[in-house]
Amino acid sequence: MGKNLTRKILESHLAKPSAMNPGDEIYVKVDQTLTHDINAVMTYLAFEAIGLDRTQVETSVSYLDHNLLYLDNKTPDDHIYLQSVAKRYGVHVSRPGNGICHAVHVARFGVPGKLSMGGDSHTPHGGSIGMLCIGVGGMDVATAMTGVPMRLKMPQIIKVNLKGHLKPGCNAKEIILEMLRRVGIKGGLGKVFEYVGPGAAGLEVSERATITNMGAEMGATTSIFPGDEQVRRFMRAQGREDQYVEMLPDEDAEYDGEMEINLDELNPLIACPHQPDNVMPLKDAEKKKVQQVFIGSCTNASYSDIAKVALVLQGRHVNEDVSCTCAVSSKQVYKQLLRDGYMEMLIDAGVRVLETACGPCCAIGQSPATKGVAVRTSNRNFKGRAGNPTAEIYLVSPESAAATAILGTFATAEDILGADVAKLAEIHEPDVYPVDDSMIIKPLPEEEAKQVEVVKGPNIKFLPIPEQPTEHLCVPVSLKTVDNITTDDITPASAEFSSMRSNIPLMSQYCYHRYDPEFAARAKEMGQSIIIGGENYGQGSSREHAAINPMYLGVRAVIAKSIARIHKGNLINHGIIPMIFEDPADYDKIEQGDELEINGLLEQMQTKEVEIRDNTKGVTFKARLELSDSELEVISCGGQLRYLKKQLGKE
Ligand code: F3S
Repeated sequence: MGKNLTRKILESHLAKPSAMNPGDEIYVKVDQTLTHDINAVMTYLAFEAIGLDRTQVETSVSYLDHNLLYLDNKTPDDHIYLQSVAKRYGVHVSRPGNGICHAVHVARFGVPGKLSMGGDSHTPHGGSIGMLCIGVGGMDVATAMTGVPMRLKMPQIIKVNLKGHLKPGCNAKEIILEMLRRVGIKGGLGKVFEYVGPGAAGLEVSERATITNMGAEMGATTSIFPGDEQVRRFMRAQGREDQYVEMLPDEDAEYDGEMEINLDELNPLIACPHQPDNVMPLKDAEKKKVQQVFIGSCTNASYSDIAKVALVLQGRHVNEDVSCTCAVSSKQVYKQLLRDGYMEMLIDAGVRVLETACGPCCAIGQSPATKGVAVRTSNRNFKGRAGNPTAEIYLVSPESAAATAILGTFATAEDILGADVAKLAEIHEPDVYPVDDSMIIKPLPEEEAKQVEVVKGPNIKFLPIPEQPTEHLCVPVSLKTVDNITTDDITPASAEFSSMRSNIPLMSQYCYHRYDPEFAARAKEMGQSIIIGGENYGQGSSREHAAINPMYLGVRAVIAKSIARIHKGNLINHGIIPMIFEDPADYDKIEQGDELEINGLLEQMQTKEVEIRDNTKGVTFKARLELSDSELEVISCGGQLRYLKKQLGKE
C-alpha cells in the first residue's frame, strides 16, 4: 500500500530505524528551527549554556514579532540580546516590522518536504506548503539546534478529505472551526491531520495556513497539506520556485483514520468564549453588542483575508461603538495591499491600522474593556488571552469580523453585501509578492561570528536550572486547579508580562496570579511543592515559562488527570515530573495544603508508576508517568539541559 505524505517526510528524516507504528518513539533529524521574541531568550540562553559554536541545522530563524511595544527597557534589552546572540551562533533574524513569524517563515524560508520545529504552538502553520512543522518548547528548539535527533511519538495520521468549494463569504476559518466543532480541543492529541481531496486542491496556501495553524487548537502534533501546484504557485510568487519540491501522498496511501468535510455545506461559524471548540453557526449566536473587533494574527491576516475585509467595509464605516483594529501579517502583504488600494479602504472605513506584529493576539495592546465583547480573527479565546479576564472573546473569519465591525453585533459578510458577497470569491493571493528581504539579517560566516559579543542588558537574567529528583519527596500541595488550565493561566500574555520572560525571579512572582494571586508567595514559602491539575492541564500556547516559573518556585511534580502535549514536554525539560492519576477519582480526595509523600521516587519512576501517600488525608493513590524511556532519562537527570550536556560531553 502507498504512503501518506506525513509518513514520507518522517521516514526521510528518521535518525534511527523504526517500524513507525503509532505511539512508537521515533528520532528525527530537524532541518529548520524558529523562535520568537517572547519565548526565545530562554532558548538562546540554553543554547549558549550547551557550549556549541553554531546552530547545527540548515536554517534557524529568530523572529522579533510578538512584542514591539517598547514600554520600558525590558523588550529592547531582549531584542538586542536576541539580535546579538543570533549573530554569534549563525541564526537569521527577522527584524521588528518584517512580520509575524509563521507568515514570514512560510513565505521566505519554508520548503516542501522539510521538517521544522518551532518554539511556538502555531508552528504547524508551515504545513500549508507541504512541510512537516511541529510546535515545541524553547528548550526543545535549543536541543534541535545542537543537531541531535529529536524524539517524537509517532502520531496517528488522519486523512481529512475535503470536497467541494467554500461559498463566497466563507473563509478557511470555517473549515478549521468545523474541525474543532467535530473533534474538540483534545481531539487532535497524538495525531497529524493530513488534508487531501479536491476541496484541498482548490485552497490557496494562505487558506491552508489558516487551517494548519489552528490545528494546534485541537492539540494535534501538526497538520499538513500536499506540496502541490498551489504551493508551486505560491513559491513562484515569492521568487522561490527553484526551491519548490513536489510532495504528495501516494494515490493509494494508507491512513490511521479518515474524516470528510464538504465545503459546499459550510456556513459562517463562530467560536464562543472561552474555548476555540465552543463553535456554533454564527447566525444562531445571541446578538451581543460588540465593543471591539481585531482583524489580524498569524491565522487570518493574509493578503486575501485583508482584501476581503476591505471589500466588506468599502463605502461603509465602522460602528461608532466599536473599536476596530487591523494588523497585517507581514511587510510584503502590507505593501501589496497598499498598492492595490485596500489599506485606503480600511482607513476610510475607520479601521485603526496597527503595525505588522502579533500584538493584540497575545494581549500586547488592545485589551477589551471590563466585561467587553471582543470579536477576533485570531486562534484563541481563552479567558484573559486578550489581556482582560472579564472580557468575552469570539473567534470568526475576517469577512465576518468586518461585517461585525459595521453592525456592532455578530454578522456575516452576506448580511452586509447581500448578493454582492459573490465578489469576495474573486479575490486571490497575488501572482507576485513585493518581496524585500532587507529586514532579514543573514548569519555571519563562522569565523566572523565567533568574534561577536553577545549583549546582555539588565533584563537578561540567568537561566534557572532545575534540581535533580531525590529519593524521598515529602512536600505540600501548593495548588489544586480545575480542568483546562491554559499556559495563559499559569503565565499570562500581555506586554507587561511578556517583557518579564527573560527575568524569571521577577516573572515568577506573577505565576498563576490571575487564577490564584497568592500562589507564587505560597509556593515560595513552601520551598518545594506539588501542583494538582484536572483534565488537559497546560493546554494552549507552547509557553515554556509555564514550566520554568513553577520550577523556579519549587514545584517538583504536577499530578493531573491529563496534561497537554507541549506542556508535558516543557515540564520534562524543566525538571518537573508530570504524573497522571491512575484513577481520576483520586483527584477529588486531595486538597491544597495536603502533604504528599513519595518513598523511593527514583526507583518507582523507572516502573512508570508511583505510589503517593496523602499524609493529611491518610490515603494512598497511584499515578502513572506517561513517559517514553528517553523522557524518563531526561526527567531523572533533572531536565533537558543537564541531560544534553551529559550527552554532548559538555558537563
Ligand atoms: Fe503571534 Fe498570535 Fe500567531 S501571538 S504567532 S499571531 S498565535
